[in-house]
This record gives sequence, C-alpha cells and structure tokens, in this order.
Amino acid sequence: MQNKIEEIKRNALSEIEQATDLKTLEEVKNIYLSRNSEFNNLKKGMKDLSPEEKPVIGALLNKVSNELNSLFEEKKDAFYKKELNEKLLKEKIDVTLDGEYIPAGHIHPLTQTVNEIVEIFNHLGFSLVDSIYSPEVEVEKYNFDLLNVPKEHPARDVQDTFYCEGGNNVVLRSQTSNAQVRKMMNSKPPIKIIAPGRVYRNESVSARKNNLFHQIEGLYVDKNVTMAQLKGVLNEFIRLYFGSSRPTRYRSSFFPFTEPSVEIDVQCIMCQGKGCSVCSGTGWLEILGAGMTDPNVLRDSGIDPETYSAFAFGMGVERLTMLKYAIDDIRLFFNNDVRFLKQF
Ligand code: DAH
Repeated sequence: MQNKIEEIKRNALSEIEQATDLKTLEEVKNIYLSRNSEFNNLKKGMKDLSPEEKPVIGALLNKVSNELNSLFEEKKDAFYKKELNEKLLKEKIDVTLDGEYIPAGHIHPLTQTVNEIVEIFNHLGFSLVDSIYSPEVEVEKYNFDLLNVPKEHPARDVQDTFYCEGGNNVVLRSQTSNAQVRKMMNSKPPIKIIAPGRVYRNESVSARKNNLFHQIEGLYVDKNVTMAQLKGVLNEFIRLYFGSSRPTRYRSSFFPFTEPSVEIDVQCIMCQGKGCSVCSGTGWLEILGAGMTDPNVLRDSGIDPETYSAFAFGMGVERLTMLKYAIDDIRLFFNNDVRFLKQF
C-alpha cells in the first residue's frame, strides 16, 4: 500500500512538472485527486486495513494529498500570473504613437447662433416656445390677419409671401411672429417666450438675401410691461451677444403689430462707427425690430389690453451671425461647403 501511494505521488509529480498550461494542469489534477481517482480509491480501502496500519497509512495519504494539492495550487497560481502578464503585454497601448485623425462633424454656425441667443434669453427669463405654436406652414390668419395686417395691406407684398397651391390661404410663414399669436391664444399672461425658426420669402437670392432664412421672435406679456423694460432686455441681449456693450440706437419705425415700433441699430462692428461699405457709410447696423404690442393684437388673441401690455421683438439669425463673424455672403450658410463650415 505504501509503495502504491509513493508510486502515485511520483507519477503525479512528474505530470505536474510536465504540464505547460492551466488546462493541462487541471486535467492532471482531475486524474489524481478527483472522487474516482486511484488515490481516492486507496482512501476508501482504508477500512480493510489492520488497526496498526490504519494510522500510518492514513497519515501518509493525508500528507501526500496535501502536498499534491498545494503543488497544484502553486503551479496554477504561477500559470495564472504568467497568462495574465502575456495578455497585458499583448494588449499594451503605446500612448506615444500618433492617433488616427477622424474628422468629426459639428454644429452649423446658424444653429450655434440660435443656441447662443436662446441661452441668453433663458438667462433673461424667456423660455423656448413649444414648437406646436410655431409652425412653418401656416394659415394667413396667424401669419397676417391676427397680427393686424389687413387683407390689402402692402406688408403682405413687402414680405413676398409664398402661397401654397389650392387657395386655402396656406402660406410658408414669412415671419416667426405667428408664434406670438398662437401662444397668446393658448395661454394666460404672464407670457415670456422666444420662438426661433425658419421663415420663407420669395426674394431673388443674392449675397444679402435668401428665400429661406431664420428668425427669433420674442414676446413678453404681463401687467405693466413698458418700453423701458424692452430697452433693458434688448440692451442686455446686445451686450451678451456681441460680448461688450456697444453703442445702440433706437430708431422709430413701423410694424403693423406694434405701436410704437422701433428698429435697433448697433454701432458698425467693422468700422467702429466711422462708416464703411458694410454699414453703407452710416456707421450703424440694423439688427432687430421691436415695439409695444398693438392693443388690437392683444385683443384679437384673447388678451385684455386694458389689463395687460406687451412688448415683442424679432431678429434675423443670418444677419446676426454675419455681423458677429464678418461673413459677407448669406449663401455661404446654405451651400454646405465644408471649408466654410469648418471655421466655426
Ligand atoms: N416680423 C418682423 C419682420 O419679419 C420682425 C419684428 C418686428 C418682429 C417687430 C416683432 C416686432 O415681434 O415686434 O420683419
């Protein structure tokens, strides 16, 4: 019996020695130490031994089994470490190598301007209007009638509106002002919103005009809204958008939906007011239209002009972007030439 044990041990030792990877090692362990192994069968045979032999053989079996077990564990551990090291070595990244250049797209300059302006007005307490109040395909009623533009009013021609086929008074909106009306008809004051979006006009395309462009509309309805508040808000917008306070000028103007109406000019960004080709020698650039909402517009939209007053404003996104970055042709925004777009 003792010899048998020694023999098994010798064989096991040599096989462990020869195992070159984890898998083989596990197999060897299985052969020598599993439930059905020869070694285990010897353990089961213990009961047939004489009382003198029992403790001797028992101790030996235990000793060998412990030895083999710890040898397996040791070697297993060594294999595991070795395999881990090899794996780590293989997967090592050389951080000093040049990276691969993957050209990434980015946000269109017009969208950047819109985002920036929306953020400024959010900061001033205006929230983005829900897009259901700001459709691009609109009926004349919201694009003109409720904005106090009568049927035969030249403003309908001035804005060179696109009419849809079928004679249903459906137009591509010529201004984002439709959002004002829709919002007022569907909510109670205080209302403090901005509405950015696309507008369409049947213009001949040139460096200064495109038949699709973008506007941002603003509206503030509450009790006691004043022209002084309009000035405060729009001056702060100009300061934040152009980055420093620049001289502004409020010129009296006309819009059918506001009374009084103003157009706001900023000192020319190119020549600092000296007069150049961009500002046609005037030293000023017009950047937006605004005014106190006409009581008719409030009333027709379901808001009592005796209780509430409002101011509104509208600005062109292309124009504001062109002024900020000294871009001289509006068509550049729509041609999708990457050489242009990449600069922003
Ligand atoms: N809708 C005007 C336009 O397209 C711009 C405008 C002017 C909007 C004055 C306003 C406003 O809300 O109060 O020319």
